[in-house]
Amino acid sequence: MKKTYSGRYFEILEKRKNLPVWVHKEEFLKTLKENQIVLLVGETGSGKTTQIPQFVLEAVLNENPSSGPKGKKWLVGCTQPRRVAAMSVSRRVAEEMDVEIGDEVGYTVRFDDCSSSKTVLKYLTDGMLLREAMADPLLGRYKVIVLDEAHERNLATDLLFGLLKQTLVRRPDLKLVVMSATLEADKFLKYFIGVPLIKVPGRLYPVEILYTREPQRDYLEAAINTIIQIHEFEPPGDVLVFLTGEEEIEDTCSRITSKLGDQVNVMPLYSTLSPAMQQKIFDPTPDPVRKIVVSTNIAETSLTIDGIVYVVDPGFSKQKLYHPNTRVESLLVSPISQASADQRAGRAGRTQPGKCFRLYTEKSFKELEKQTYAEILRSNLANTVLTLKILGVENLLHFDLIDPPAPETLSRALDDLYHLGALDDECNLTKTGEMMSEFPLDPQMAKMIIVSPQFNCSNEILSVSAMLSVPNCFIRPRGEAQKAADKAKSMFSHIDGDHLTLLNVFHAFLQHNQKPDWCYENFINYRAMKSAVSVREQLVRIMSRFQIKLCSPDFNSRDYYVNIRKALLAGYFMQVAHLERTGHYLTFRDKDDQVVNLHPSNCLDYKPEWVVYNEYVFTSRNFIRTVTYIQGEWLVDIAPDYYQPANFPNSEAKRVLQRHYKKRRLSEERSCKIFCASNS
Ligand code: CDP
Ligand code: MG
Repeated sequence: MKKTYSGRYFEILEKRKNLPVWVHKEEFLKTLKENQIVLLVGETGSGKTTQIPQFVLEAVLNENPSSGPKGKKWLVGCTQPRRVAAMSVSRRVAEEMDVEIGDEVGYTVRFDDCSSSKTVLKYLTDGMLLREAMADPLLGRYKVIVLDEAHERNLATDLLFGLLKQTLVRRPDLKLVVMSATLEADKFLKYFIGVPLIKVPGRLYPVEILYTREPQRDYLEAAINTIIQIHEFEPPGDVLVFLTGEEEIEDTCSRITSKLGDQVNVMPLYSTLSPAMQQKIFDPTPDPVRKIVVSTNIAETSLTIDGIVYVVDPGFSKQKLYHPNTRVESLLVSPISQASADQRAGRAGRTQPGKCFRLYTEKSFKELEKQTYAEILRSNLANTVLTLKILGVENLLHFDLIDPPAPETLSRALDDLYHLGALDDECNLTKTGEMMSEFPLDPQMAKMIIVSPQFNCSNEILSVSAMLSVPNCFIRPRGEAQKAADKAKSMFSHIDGDHLTLLNVFHAFLQHNQKPDWCYENFINYRAMKSAVSVREQLVRIMSRFQIKLCSPDFNSRDYYVNIRKALLAGYFMQVAHLERTGHYLTFRDKDDQVVNLHPSNCLDYKPEWVVYNEYVFTSRNFIRTVTYIQGEWLVDIAPDYYQPANFPNSEAKRVLQRHYKKRRLSEERSCKIFCASNS
């Protein structure tokens, strides 16, 4: 590390020393020295995420002056449920330590590794630590692991709890710090029996809570009106507004700016925001200008913005929900819990007394759930099961989880993996399953990639997968430009479906040398495209590790797109819908069917009989989004076991399938006869 520090370093150091956790530094380090696990609970903004890992690092470096395992440096890891938080916090900490990000302090998130052999403090998403554990179950390079934001009860964090509990027994020199905001601390105490708890009291000023008298019909409208009123009638102080997603946030930002102009500085905050924009959120605004941050749930506990005095809380967030019938998980705008609402309110009282405007009635507040359910109870567990299998967990039902999922959910996940060929009859991992787990993708996408060479189109499938793994590439502004945007999009449309449209965009981007201007002219999100290129490169690297062939069908062949569509189906055969006479589509999982509609964003100009889809969207109606036309016969060829008509509820689809099976049987018999005849 550097010997001389910059002026900025000392400036920040003074600020850091005022954070509530600093008072507890000695107590914390002493407790950590004497115990293998320490639980630290503190108000959001008290300095847990930025300071504690630095304290830990200091202790680790003092106690282990020589290098760590295999001549490499020991690592302190700090997990975050959200990638934005991992990136933004590590940048901040690098600045605090006066080093370049990626050197001593780094971060690792899916598809983006900014760490090096120099790194000694690494922020990473909990999902990435889980991946590292898959490669090295003992997490040999780590000396201390800090599991942050434990109260979020993220799926990966919960799995890490179970896993680390085992690892700590096998590695007595490894230590674990669990950090949580004030919610749910008792649950952890019950889970880690006998573990010392350090409480960091925050300095929260009183926050006055205001409810609406009537329920609000349109929370966006209500939010904008409230912001205008705050700006006109309340004393100086910045505003934080909680909304649910990127589009809604961008839209609201421009509406506020058009109403209030330069008197305010409006800033969006969501996960796919560019790092530079994320950093701007923390810059103070010059005086009479009021800062208005319009954020997703990220600002609830993960990121603390100083200077917030007013919070506007419409009471919703996008939450993952799992539909056992369809086995599909989806993000749905849903009411938050009371605990979340209180966290949000608390954001207003960090630097002075504040106000929280809840855009719902007090009665509605009382009707909210007390706590948000742990994600593990709201997820399709196929991926989780695969991970646990790789980690060598034999009996999934006995794996020690804080909130064990229902056994049916587990057995459904096992079924799915069996159909995908990841598990055999005895529930053991197959070769395919092992390969699948190496891809940081959902099992269906991984399967699609692995089998794509059989359809001679792994190059194309990789491009489609990359496009599906990044944010939506189509920009659709409101107002004037919308028509132009739709027209631009239609230039990429492929008659057979959205997956192929994505492929067209990807190819066009490469053809135009990845130029930002080209993206701008075509209403394409440049950053999304750049990430797709990088994601694809990383997937190619995994492919080459397994020596999976990279190949393309002849572009001039009639079968070019047929092959790609078949390969799509080979991964996503469980996500297929059939057009019934009623004009609706039906999806099938086991013996259940669901009525769905094609999402309006689709590029088809007709309704194909069968489609494969990428995701389910539940709003006022059930939609399937990103759909591509496939043929019914292919189901019988590609997933004959899964598409047994006997597994189907009564529907047209079932009769159609029965016909396909019959045809297949007949042609098999015929080819047998010809064969026998020519033999005699
Ligand atoms: O983790 P916890 O909520 O306890 O607090 P933290 O994230 O460590 O934040 C401590 C302080 O660092 C807050 O006052 C933040 O505003 C500040 N911070 C910052 O100025 N810039 C960042 N990129 C991150 C945090
Ligand atoms: Mg934190």
